[in-house]
Amino acid sequence: MSGLLKDSYNRQIRDLRVSLTDRCNFRCFYCLPHGEPPVAPKEQMLSYEEIEYVSEIFVSLGIEKIRLTGGEPMMRRDIETVIRKLSALKPRLHDLALTTNGYFLPDRAEELKEAGLDRITISLDSLKRDVFKRMTGIDVLDRVLEGIEAAKRAGLKPIKINAVIVRGHNECEVADFARFAREHDVWMRFIEFMPLDSGHEWSREMVVSGREIRERIEERFSLVPLKVPRGSETSSRYRFADNAPGEIGIIAPVTEPFCGACSRIRLTADGQIRTCLFSTVEHSLRDVVRSGATRAEVVEFIESVVEKKEPRHYINDPEFRQPARTMSFIGG
Ligand code: GTP
Ligand code: 5AD
Ligand code: SF4
Repeated sequence: MSGLLKDSYNRQIRDLRVSLTDRCNFRCFYCLPHGEPPVAPKEQMLSYEEIEYVSEIFVSLGIEKIRLTGGEPMMRRDIETVIRKLSALKPRLHDLALTTNGYFLPDRAEELKEAGLDRITISLDSLKRDVFKRMTGIDVLDRVLEGIEAAKRAGLKPIKINAVIVRGHNECEVADFARFAREHDVWMRFIEFMPLDSGHEWSREMVVSGREIRERIEERFSLVPLKVPRGSETSSRYRFADNAPGEIGIIAPVTEPFCGACSRIRLTADGQIRTCLFSTVEHSLRDVVRSGATRAEVVEFIESVVEKKEPRHYINDPEFRQPARTMSFIGG
């Protein structure tokens, strides 16, 4: 069908992830352990007006979901402004979400909701203070737990919690996290460690497979796969067999890639379109917009970039090379 974004493998692109900043106040070792490389000058960043302009065009081309990411998106000033602007694209836009480390949520969850945010995903890699500190580089477990409660109170549901499971760090906590999901009525999502860390420490031995994660949960709680079509979702989803609250999602991009149904593209904070998490090239939407291109020219550019979307990632190929930009640039 014309007017919709389709790539050359006939995948329809419905999901846009917009990074608001490369900066982050955490130092998660699986992402940005040694701190930020020089941050792009402000004039290279897309302004909120530019994000609004291009997002409207994306929505007119069939984008249904926008997720704001980073870095830590809440490090950027006044993100309620951009949330308000994007929220105005509803109902054509079905879903406006945010991925955050949770640090700023205790005071600000309510404002995000009022600005029009639908739901939130919070990273939480350990329930133990010392492990949390070792994995994230910052001693703020209690504050993040408070942030989760604040998000719940604000009604940013469903609350999804992301934990990257890494051998030698937190694999022993998998069942504890499942209990956390039950007790707090959240969707707990377990993620395989991908080679996107700026420290280049990733190794195959550190990957805890989705299968092992499921086995570790089932040692304590029985799970039932949800009877919903997977579509382009990243996770396989389960409920608890005893109908306890909460949900489990397992995201296994390394051992069970889901590229065949991918519906995602990404826009970096400096306005580059990335057609895959593992892209080695980027396409400057910022330069096109700032060159004074007409709307039709912007549409044509976006369509031509989407055509080039990669079929899949190559993590499991012997000649795989890590992309130069890490997760903190790309947004999870
Ligand atoms: P919703 O279902 O809309 O909440 O979003 P989501 O499933 O895309 O979740 P989220 O943005 O929290 O992504 C969870 C994690 O899945 C990310 O942090 C990445 O580790 C991984 N991930 C997300 N999108 C992709 C993707 O396109 N490819 C791969 N390989 N991994 C992805
Ligand atoms: N592997 C898998 N997921 C990652 N994230 C960041 N780095 C990695 C990685 N190397 C994800 C985490 C975090 C989100 C912002 O990005 O889920 O919650
Ligand atoms: Fe899509 Fe690339 Fe992720 Fe595969 S690795 S699911 S193609 S973004």
